[in-house]
Amino acid sequence: MPHITGAADAALMELPWEIPLSAWPEERIAALPRGLSRHVVRFVRHGATVLAVKETNREIAYREFEMLRELEKMDAPCVHAVAVVSRRRTPSGEELSAALITEHLAFSLPYRALFSTALRKGTLNRLIDALSVLLVRLHLHGFYWGDVSLSNALFRRDASEFSAYLVDAETGDLHETLTTGQRSYDLEIATTNIIGEILDLQANEDLDEGIDPFKIGERLESRYTQLWAALTETEVFDTNIPYRVSERVRALNEMGFDVGELDMLTTPDGTGLHIRPKVVDAGFHSRRLMRLTGLDVQENQARRLLNDLDEYRAVHLEISDDEAFAAHEWLTSIFEPTIRAVPRELRGKLEPAQVFHEVLDHRWFLAQSAAEDVPMPVATASYVKNVLPLRPDERAVLGRSLAEMTAELPALTDEFGTTFERRDPFENDNTYAWGEVPVPDNAEPPQVQRVSTKVPAPEREPLSSEIKERDRKAGVASAVAVESAIDLESAVEPDEESEEESDSEESGF
Ligand SMILES: Nc1ncnc2c1ncn2[C@@H]1O[C@H](COP(=O)(O)OP(=O)(O)O)[C@@H](O)[C@H]1O
Ligand SMILES: [Mg+2]
Repeated sequence: MPHITGAADAALMELPWEIPLSAWPEERIAALPRGLSRHVVRFVRHGATVLAVKETNREIAYREFEMLRELEKMDAPCVHAVAVVSRRRTPSGEELSAALITEHLAFSLPYRALFSTALRKGTLNRLIDALSVLLVRLHLHGFYWGDVSLSNALFRRDASEFSAYLVDAETGDLHETLTTGQRSYDLEIATTNIIGEILDLQANEDLDEGIDPFKIGERLESRYTQLWAALTETEVFDTNIPYRVSERVRALNEMGFDVGELDMLTTPDGTGLHIRPKVVDAGFHSRRLMRLTGLDVQENQARRLLNDLDEYRAVHLEISDDEAFAAHEWLTSIFEPTIRAVPRELRGKLEPAQVFHEVLDHRWFLAQSAAEDVPMPVATASYVKNVLPLRPDERAVLGRSLAEMTAELPALTDEFGTTFERRDPFENDNTYAWGEVPVPDNAEPPQVQRVSTKVPAPEREPLSSEIKERDRKAGVASAVAVESAIDLESAVEPDEESEEESDSEESGF
């Protein structure tokens, strides 16, 4: 019998551990994009989740498992370690490698899945930026990676950027803090590996012409160095002290970091102040959004959603001074209906928050062309009909003329009205982790889990009557609207031919 240490999940025993991973039956295997690796790594369907199974030796598997668990406790961006399987034998008694099981990171892409013909400069720069943030975050936790590379990270779309996650911790080491020497050595390995990976792409003609691999290496170094300095450097202020302290904190918030503790020390002559951030945590915007709405999304997505929430407050003056209440209203009348308008069969394409971000972009794009504001339900309908079915074939979308995209707006506006359907705010039906696995036809509708149950309830009497009045007016029309979004979609068949011919910047999956 194999020995399994880790998650309390007896069903793991049922996997065919007596067979080498490379020979596991195809029906268990999930065909998802995977990066380059030394070991055999395969994705395996397991109930509602997908697991990544890596065959390796027993000590290494345990070590990597412990490391990932430690990192996760510190809230570092990495894959979730599930278990280690050892003492594997074939029925004839032959020994098999141990296996490390991690959870497949939903919606993550290895960098090689981010292009279909050639990796573009803009995409590559954004990958490098994400990787430098990841490296700084890991170094702040005292993690020496030892083998930083594009292949050992996973990328998720995060609004217009990417965010990066550690996937291969095999060579890593955790320390109380890292010395400058350790950090620069890690950065040196990173630069060498990445230049190598980019040269490989170049040799295979998988890289856009005009990209200088060495410039990319420099970019990683300078991004890393700038961010590290911003997060850790001591500054001395001698004028306007309170203002300059709050400016430093604000600048860090702007970069997505929360300042948990600040070290402040008066200069020896007593006229100035040394300040140094002592505890910084990533996720300034995502934590704020979580507090207000219970939505658990990535940092840049959160920033985008919070901006939309601010706009909503600016328009709805009657509730704008009550942030929690306005957030609740925005969640139930703007965010959730947008997400619900996406037909189930398209939900595997992007995460909900990413869909929302793209709908906002699409709305802006339509409004520019129509030279007037386009209501959110209309923009959503247009996005679901014109854009989402064609993803990741971005070129096809660009090939569609603006006139075509906007021709229908008046009709859609009539059909959809300007209000989304309102639902019971406590209905627990958000859509966390869409599309981890392709959704089978008979699946339950997707669920967005609110992580916090403390979503503020509408409390104010006069307002709820206003809301009822609004509902009464809008209810019938908008209920029809959401259903017809689904009909609209099914009327559009993605054009398979153009998908094959595509050489869009980033082919999704
Ligand atoms: N939990 C996971 N989620 C998504 N992809 C994964 C996961 N674990 C591994 N992979 C994919 O498998 C590849 C190889 O895994 P890695 O741990 O780097 O193996 P190796 O030690 O052999 O290099 C990664 O680049 C990544 O694409
Ligand atoms: Mg690796």
